[in-house]
Amino acid sequence: MIYLNGQFMPLEEARIPVMDRGFIFGDGVYEVIPVYSRHPFRLAEHLRRLQHSLNGIRLDNPHSNSEWADLINQVIAGNQGEDQYIYLHITRGVAKRDHAFPPKDVTPTVFILSNPLTTPPQSLCESGVGAVTATDNRWLRCDIKAISLLPNVLLRQAAVDAGAAETLLLREGFLTEGAASNIFVVHDHTLLAPPKSHLMLPGITYDVVLELAEENGIKYEVREISEFEVRSAQELWMTSSTKEVLPITTLDGKPVGDGKPGPVFHRMYALYQEYKSKVMRVPAALAKQPGE
Ligand code: PDD
Repeated sequence: MIYLNGQFMPLEEARIPVMDRGFIFGDGVYEVIPVYSRHPFRLAEHLRRLQHSLNGIRLDNPHSNSEWADLINQVIAGNQGEDQYIYLHITRGVAKRDHAFPPKDVTPTVFILSNPLTTPPQSLCESGVGAVTATDNRWLRCDIKAISLLPNVLLRQAAVDAGAAETLLLREGFLTEGAASNIFVVHDHTLLAPPKSHLMLPGITYDVVLELAEENGIKYEVREISEFEVRSAQELWMTSSTKEVLPITTLDGKPVGDGKPGPVFHRMYALYQEYKSKVMRVPAALAKQPGE
């Protein structure tokens, strides 16, 4: 069951007019929210990032946070499976084709879908995945989770074409993120993360990883990471709501470190799994978050 513009219905029955600005211009924003044991994880943070994206495209939020929570929980309840992920999508609505904003009375299109959350199997976390590098040729507002994802689509396909899982993006000699993930680097036994800016999406999983590092005494630095540091890294990881934390063991066909997931990854993976069972699977009001 999905939610579309005020109604719950089977996905097969959902219809969007072809003049929707999401279809015509990619004019909208989205969120992906993981759901563990039927609890949306860090919903408040995802809704804060959604508001930031809406502000970035100058679109009024069609719902209050409590309305969003209610809609999302109804979609979760209407779908099978304990672990799901919510895909939430808002466009500037249906209007005559004109690049500039439509008249004020045009209402945004709101779509909420749930899919099963299939996180990477343990075997993949033990072998790691391959990645390639590419020039980050996206716009300068990568902090907005925009539905216009053509550059990300092409960049991710470049990885698939090379038999790899992700493309690491380099802009003017520095790491920004992955085509659909954030990237962490272990260099000189220190975990490195690029600082949040307009050049990357502020990942919710990124926050979790840094909080777990802080809480558990893993040495880390949030700072710009040079291409040289990426290429000479002891470890590389990718993070996202659907991939959680995944080690990258080859980069452009060459082994990362000794070509196996490293000790810092193993530590973080264990911490993440523990955090998942102790916090993510518990209603937010009862769960103790890192830093509390
Ligand atoms: N993508 N950077 C980009 C470009 C992303 O698309 C994503 C996630 C992330 C990680 O953010 P988070 O940890 O909040 O999932 C970083 C989602 C999963 C997607 O588009 O499907």
